[in-house]
This record gives sequence, structure tokens and C-alpha cells, in this order.
Amino acid sequence: MSHYSDRFKLGPEKNVKPLSLSTKGKKFFTYLLIASIVILFYFASLRNFTADENIFLRPFIVKPKPMKNILFWSKYFGDTTWYSGSDEAGKEVLKSVECPVTNCFFTHDYNFLDNVTKFDAIAFHGPELIRNIVPLNRNQNQIYIFVDLEAPTAVRDLSEFENFFNLTMHYRLDSDIEFDYGKVVAINSVKAIAPSKNPNWMKVDEDFYDEEFLKIFEKKKKNIAWFVSHCETFSRRELLVEHMQNFTTIDIYGQCGPFKCPRFSDKCSKMLTDDYKFYLSFENSLCDDYVTEKLFNSMTEFVIPIVFNGANMNNFLPPKSYINANDFETVEDLVDYLNFLSENPKEYIKYFWWRQYYKILPHPVFSYALCDICKKLNDENFIETRHIYTDLNSWFRDKKCNQQAHIKFRNL
Ligand SMILES: *[C@@H]1O[C@H](CO)[C@@H](O)[C@H](O)[C@H]1NC(C)=O
Ligand SMILES: *[C@@H]1O[C@H](CO)[C@@H](O)[C@H](O)[C@H]1NC(C)=O
Ligand SMILES: *[C@@H]1O[C@H](CO)[C@@H](O)[C@H](O)[C@H]1NC(C)=O
Repeated sequence: MSHYSDRFKLGPEKNVKPLSLSTKGKKFFTYLLIASIVILFYFASLRNFTADENIFLRPFIVKPKPMKNILFWSKYFGDTTWYSGSDEAGKEVLKSVECPVTNCFFTHDYNFLDNVTKFDAIAFHGPELIRNIVPLNRNQNQIYIFVDLEAPTAVRDLSEFENFFNLTMHYRLDSDIEFDYGKVVAINSVKAIAPSKNPNWMKVDEDFYDEEFLKIFEKKKKNIAWFVSHCETFSRRELLVEHMQNFTTIDIYGQCGPFKCPRFSDKCSKMLTDDYKFYLSFENSLCDDYVTEKLFNSMTEFVIPIVFNGANMNNFLPPKSYINANDFETVEDLVDYLNFLSENPKEYIKYFWWRQYYKILPHPVFSYALCDICKKLNDENFIETRHIYTDLNSWFRDKKCNQQAHIKFRNL
């Protein structure tokens, strides 16, 4: 024993005498032994040595997971908190999403540690990343994370960042760290169900009926709303809308139409519940998994979204919670179906069956991504296998936005 106590200079242990069990001081020595073990644990926890350093301590000490520190290097669209609302995030945030690991601390303060090379990982936001404003020194074990929520059609050339990043944090479902525009979670829980590859959805309740929903529907006096700021797009959604307008009325809010409603206001969202039957969630590009926040945000209101995008929607929302324009051959077929629902309230409200089982967390759903970062940094397999993006451009772009719209609308 003295050998170890000398080595670690754990003062009290030096006084432990060899135990002599035959004397009547047996009890006393038992207490002393227990006391010394307790003291040993106490000092062991104060010092930072790990169980591996010492075969004697190994069976007694539950090795605490070393803290991982993660630095957010750039801002996130000018926001130092990266839309998290807080300058730093740690255990509490990770616990809030029931993350299996909590030994991570996130900060945007690069003075938090005395040298940036000491951060376990550094996250960089693509749109605000400048090649010659990156840390001067990099420790070989540091994980660099590329963060981006933009569609490839909007992302600049990234060839100057070849062999620079270890992880991608992006909306695409094959990213290392999923960074979604919204989440579907089980009701009364924080458990995320989607976006995900092949989520296990509950079976659609075809008999769904709800008196309250019917009342909300009866109050709706308007047809379709569209909030839009980019009028000419890669997906040519503007043409699809134009063709739809031949057969139905669409109120266009924002830059590209006559209606006005202040962006991001509660009033505009409420209007969807109060007035409109349908909401257009048409993406500006038809890319893999590209489904933006407007869809998730609208799902928190009582309105049926009509989607037009390049995603496999089953990976994003419960079945029968939206109408997919690409499920129709022609614009007329689509509009016929919308009219059918408008005239059949009981069929219309069936689109809300999912609310019995799921709820939507609108943008931003940052905490889930933080949990995924923490899981990766704790994943020894990942750390050992080494992971480098040698060609970030092709990971981002190649064949990611080639989807053809199924519904015919370009040359009617
Ligand atoms: C940070 O650490 C690196 C690598 O150990 C070293 O080269 C560099 O000088 C340090 N920077 C500062 C500001 O101390
Ligand atoms: C629908 O509207 C578009 C654009 O205004 C027009 O070019 C097209 O001919 C119309 N199609 C039908 C079937 O009415
Ligand atoms: C991260 O990327 C750097 C630079 O390419 C590389 O040297 C390092 O080995 C990578 N680390 C891991 C854990 O993959």
C-alpha cells in the first residue's frame, strides 16, 4: 500500500498500518480501512488521474468521461449563439433532448481555453467561413466540423477546404451530424422520430374524427396561402404556382405577390390556422432531403401544407399530414383533389390524425445536433478510424439536385 501512496502522495494512506485481525482492535481497523478507502476515493476524485494509471485503483474508480470542449468559430448568420439563444451550452441542453452523453461543453468564446488547439472540436459555419480566418494552429486530434443548412444550389465553391474537415453537419440524412430544419417528435416526449431514414410511422388512422378540428375548418374562408421571397428559382416553383392559379386562387404574400404580412410574425402564422385551408411549401431547389423550415413551421398551425421538393417525404413527415404535388400527374389533378378536400370537411381533417401521436418542433432544433456532435466525439470507433473530407465540393454537390418534378407544369 505504501508503494502506491508514496507514488501519489495521498497523505492519509501513509498512516495506514498493516492490519492485525487477531487483536480486539479488529473493529477499529475495519473502520480505519473503510475510512481510508473513502479518503482514497475522495483524493482520487480531486486529482485527475485515471484508473488506467494504476492497477490498484482500477477496480474501484468509475472512469469519468473526460470533458469535450467544442468551439463555434464563426457566427451563425451573425448570431454568436448559433440560434441557440445562449452563449454556451452544456449538460443541461444535452439532457433536455435526453442525450445519452453529456460530457460536452459548447462555446463561441475562443478564449475559453488558453489555446484554441485545446478544443476537441471546432465548428465552422459554411456561409461565414473565410479561408484565411481559421485557427493558425491545429492539433492533429482536433475535429473540424463543416456546418451548413443551405441547398447545394446556394453553396459556393468549397475546393479551398479540401482535406480540412472531419465531419459534416448538414440537413442531408447522410451527413455525419444531422442538422434539421425541424423535428417530428413523439407526443409527450423529446424522442425524435424524423427526419430520418425509414422512420417507423404509426399507421394512418383513416377513421380519424375530431369535433374541434371540424370547427376550426368551418371558420376558414380562404383557400391557399404562399409566403415567398425569391421569385425566380431553380425548381421553377413559380411556374407551377402560375399554372395552379388557372384553376384555383392562391394568395401570394411577400416579394412576389400583392399580399403583405410582416415576416416571422405570429400574426402571419395564426392567419394560416384562422383563414387558410392550404399552405404552399414549395422549395426553391429540388435536392435530396431538402425540406426547409417553412414546412415544419407551418405544421405547428392547423393548415394542410402542399409540398413540392426533391425529398422522399416519408423520411420527413407522418403519412397523410401533407399533400405532395409530385404525387399528381397534372396541375388539374392536384387542384381537383384540393377542391375535393375543401368540400369534404371530414376528409380534410383526417390530415391531422397524426396529432394524436406526434408533435412538430419548428426551426431551430439545435440541441439535437449538439447531442449528435457529443456522441461523435465520444465514439472511439469514429476517432480511431479517422475521417477526412478530401473533396467537400463533390460530397455537397454531385448528383444532389437532379430530381425531376413528377407533376407536369412546365409546358402545358
Ligand atoms: C497554441 O498551441 C500551439 C501548439 O502547441 C502552439 O504552437 C502555439 O504557439 C500556441 N498558441 C498560443 C497563442 O499560445
Ligand atoms: C395556365 O397559365 C399559364 C401561365 O399564365 C398559361 O401559360 C397556360 O396556358 C395556362 N394553362 C391552362 C391550361 O389554362
Ligand atoms: C481530421 O482531419 C485532419 C486534417 O485532414 C486529419 O489530419 C486528422 O487525422 C483528422 N482526424 C480524425 C479523427 O479523423
